[in-house]
Amino acid sequence: MAPTKKTSGTAASTEAVKQITYLAASLKAPRITEAAARLADHARDAGWTHEDYLAAVLEREVSARNASGARLRIRAAGFSGVKTLEDFHFDAQPAIRQQVGALASGGFLTEARNVVLLGPPGTGKTHLATALGVAAANHGHRVLFATATDWVTRLTEAHRAGRLPNELARLRRYGLIIIDEVGYLPFEQDAANLFFQLVSSRYEHASLILTSNLPFSGWGGVFGDQAVAAAMIDRIVHHADVLTLKGASYRLRGRGIESLPSIRTTTDQTES
Ligand SMILES: Nc1ncnc2c1ncn2[C@@H]1O[C@H](COP(=O)(O)OP(=O)(O)OP(=O)(O)O)[C@@H](O)[C@H]1O
Ligand SMILES: [Mg+2]
Repeated sequence: MAPTKKTSGTAASTEAVKQITYLAASLKAPRITEAAARLADHARDAGWTHEDYLAAVLEREVSARNASGARLRIRAAGFSGVKTLEDFHFDAQPAIRQQVGALASGGFLTEARNVVLLGPPGTGKTHLATALGVAAANHGHRVLFATATDWVTRLTEAHRAGRLPNELARLRRYGLIIIDEVGYLPFEQDAANLFFQLVSSRYEHASLILTSNLPFSGWGGVFGDQAVAAAMIDRIVHHADVLTLKGASYRLRGRGIESLPSIRTTTDQTES
């Protein structure tokens, strides 16, 4: 038999410790054993009530479970790199500070609202989408991150295998799906339809975060069909916070490069 840990109590308390060890193992909560032993002397010395002691022991178990759950959810999300709101310098984007602060509490997820981050390259769209995803995972939500192109590949595979409805139903069990880089690569008509189905299946059920370097008016070109793009934007924006990031690329800071070639619009071209 394993040697019993020495406690400051009597034989009766040694028996109780053994029983706690057994009961905690049955509950699959081994940290309770450790917390119960560690806090017992302190509780006696500080004159805690039984209720205070029980609450403190259970609190250790719950916070350890939440932390390891969040770690697993962050790992499973598939972020391209883990970024947090603490790492984000709002001085570079002061106009969105308040909006992001409100989103960080995760309330948008319980209301199945969406977030759209628009802005030129390097302004922090992926950083903020990831950071909001990390915050969501910390709040207990399951999250999946991928680029728009990767989502299309995934949906195309499911469609070819005849399991698109199952895949969409499975994805609805994720409180948050992040679609990064809408607009960098145009889609085929079939891909645009699959993307529409993803947006539509989540509409008023679960949240999306989308990032794009294009304003909504440019999405028709990406999806190759103005009608599909319009119907999709309608569903995304109906319950959404749209954040517009501005300014020069953060990547170019301090490199003596003032700006990148801008994305030329039709108006630019007729003017020149
Ligand atoms: N305000 C900021 N504070 C701290 N880091 C930032 C900020 N903005 C951007 N960055 C950092 O700069 C780099 C580029 O940002 P990010 O990848 O989020 O840009 P993006 O808007 O997604 O660009 P792209 O359109 O090219 O994908 C990242 O390493 C990011 O962490
Ligand atoms: Mg990006």
